[in-house]
Amino acid sequence: MVFFTLVLLPFLLLLLYFIVRPRPVKIPIKNRHVFITGGSSGIGLALAHQAASEGARVSLLARSLDKLKEAKQSIRLSSGVDASIFSADVRDFEAVQRAINDAGPIDILVVNQGIFVPQELEKQELDEIKFTIDINLMGSFNVIKAALPLMKNRKDQGPASIALMSSQAGQVGIYGYTAYSASKFGLRGLAEALQQEVIADNIHVSMIFPPDTETPGLEQENKRRPEITKILAGSSGSMKADQVAKKTLDGIKSGSFVIPCNFEGHMLSIATAGLSPQRSFLTAFLEVVFAGIARLIALCFQWNWYGSIEKWHAQRKSKFA
Ligand SMILES: NC(=O)c1ccc[n+]([C@@H]2O[C@H](COP(=O)([O-])OP(=O)(O)OC[C@H]3O[C@@H](n4cnc5c(N)ncnc54)[C@H](OP(=O)(O)O)[C@@H]3O)[C@@H](O)[C@H]2O)c1
Repeated sequence: MVFFTLVLLPFLLLLLYFIVRPRPVKIPIKNRHVFITGGSSGIGLALAHQAASEGARVSLLARSLDKLKEAKQSIRLSSGVDASIFSADVRDFEAVQRAINDAGPIDILVVNQGIFVPQELEKQELDEIKFTIDINLMGSFNVIKAALPLMKNRKDQGPASIALMSSQAGQVGIYGYTAYSASKFGLRGLAEALQQEVIADNIHVSMIFPPDTETPGLEQENKRRPEITKILAGSSGSMKADQVAKKTLDGIKSGSFVIPCNFEGHMLSIATAGLSPQRSFLTAFLEVVFAGIARLIALCFQWNWYGSIEKWHAQRKSKFA
């Protein structure tokens, strides 16, 4: 114990301090241009309010102009900031590019748009699966590709950020989310590779992994959620959009690659850290020390989930027997 505390622990902390990459960074928000896709509702709108109240210039992109106008008005009322709004569908690259060129160089790009239509793969139409992938994954490629040239050439060469809104369903596959989980897992590959490509331009990538969050999107989703999905997704609790927005903004400002939003999210992030980048030597320390225990907890979750699925099937069989 004495050897561990006096020798091993300081050595491990020192080693991690020197090897974590990319190096720690602070990303200022005040007086900078924050561009949020899906900024007219839910988490995106809550984030727009918080960024505006911290003195950022805010731009929002979504499809419905009416919802955008409402969002603009509510931001003006709460913070006095006059947000710019752009109506475009992220599936349309040219429209996204026009909006981003009109908005001007971006310092903090939050790729937040997303839809979630849960259903078992066998029952879900291929069109709906494609719709989910096109908006959540291809739409994110469109937004980033349109924004990158201007972000790289920004006059203020201060640290910039590209933050991608994933989900806890982007860290672990959940019953009823084959299309959604696939779209969100895809974002992780995009983010990990992109971080290596843009690090030389002082651009820092973040991924946010919220649990169920009270938003208009979740309200719609709940109407279609398969029964088992409700049981399994409920195990991580739910948050308010404002709380997720605060975690998101704090995570972006500290340049975190992975931004968990609640306690279960922190455990999930440790269990799924894999080869992802880590800037904080303290978080790296937790990952190294708790990797085994996090795996054990993850196996307990799987045990519980498969138990619920088995029970549900058994109940259905006896009901229809
Ligand atoms: N709420 C949750 O429980 C939860 C949990 C984990 C992760 N997330 C993720 O968080 C993000 C925001 O979710 P939310 O719950 O805040 O959803 P929301 O309230 O439904 O808001 C979605 C936003 O995305 C926009 N959008 C949708 N499709 C678009 C498209 N094709 N092109 C441009 N904009 C589009 C919507 O505006 P228009 O419809 O007008 O285009 C709206 O502004 C999503 O990526 C979601 O996957 C949510």
